[in-house]
Amino acid sequence: MENETRKKRIFSGIQPSGDLTLGSYMGAISNWVAMQDEYDCVYCIVDMHAITVRQDPAELRRRALAQLAQYIACGLDPEKSILFIQSHVPQHAELSWVLGCYTQFGELSRMTQFKQKSQQHADNITAGLFTYPVLMAADILLYQADAVPVGADQKQHVELCRDVAQRFNGIYGDVFTLPEPFIPKIGARVMSLADPANKMSKSDPDGCVFLMDAPDAVRRKFKRAVTDCDSSVRFDREAKPGVSNLLTIFCAATGSTLEQAEVEFAGQGYGAFKSAVADAVIALTDPIRTESQKLMQDKAYLENIYRDGAARAAAIARRTLRKVYKKVGFVER
Ligand code: TRP
Repeated sequence: MENETRKKRIFSGIQPSGDLTLGSYMGAISNWVAMQDEYDCVYCIVDMHAITVRQDPAELRRRALAQLAQYIACGLDPEKSILFIQSHVPQHAELSWVLGCYTQFGELSRMTQFKQKSQQHADNITAGLFTYPVLMAADILLYQADAVPVGADQKQHVELCRDVAQRFNGIYGDVFTLPEPFIPKIGARVMSLADPANKMSKSDPDGCVFLMDAPDAVRRKFKRAVTDCDSSVRFDREAKPGVSNLLTIFCAATGSTLEQAEVEFAGQGYGAFKSAVADAVIALTDPIRTESQKLMQDKAYLENIYRDGAARAAAIARRTLRKVYKKVGFVER
């Protein structure tokens, strides 16, 4: 009976390795916002993951705080959900060590993100980059999360997390809830405006709209967006990736369907279409930008939120870690 009424728990996080983008909003955060009533949600700013590649310390600190302000401005409610910064809850690092002793070298070697990132950062392939999925497993398992909303690129990591949890449970009994990856159906997959074959990414600033971009920057980026030479506004991912991406963004921003949007822009040139997409995006992001800026002025408020979030997160994390330490045979302190 009690179990039936318990809300399912969600855990997710974004690295403060760059400023939040329109892609992070449409692909992740807007879904997180929508899940807050139905689920018991824990949303993290995963700064410990960010240092798996070199970061500028002052920038990392600024972005972690800005990310918290932007989470709230996007509609994540610190009263409903736990919002916190990963490095504030030491149990993440502690559980990560234990789980690393139950993860095979071979399993980590097969992670496609590791293979990609070690090519991109060939001069700095650290042990942290390699064991990153173990830290991610610790994030998820500490909170006994039932589901983990992630992009398709993170599915392999969630599967590894399940494998490790299952292995641990197989040895010690039911310690961890097995999480399901949850790839939201409505979340838009937003591609780069400059190169629509690739995901919109903060590492490609021309093709990327940031949540904090001012309206004129947003307009300029859409004006330059890659389209094609046939000039009909029609959804066709294969033949018209640029236009299809703009349509996806328009629909995610306005809530209209692809069919409605195609009708609306039938017979219009790309110029008018692009400026309508820019307007729709600005209508969405400008209130978020203004609210974030306001919150960033109030450091004491943000401090309160992340302290309270860390205390609530740690209360859950401590219980899990205590159980794990006992199971593996550590002397109780
Ligand atoms: N690895 C994720 C990414 O780069 C971020 C992340 C870290 C995460 N820990 C997590 C996502 C736990 C979901 C759950 O996108």
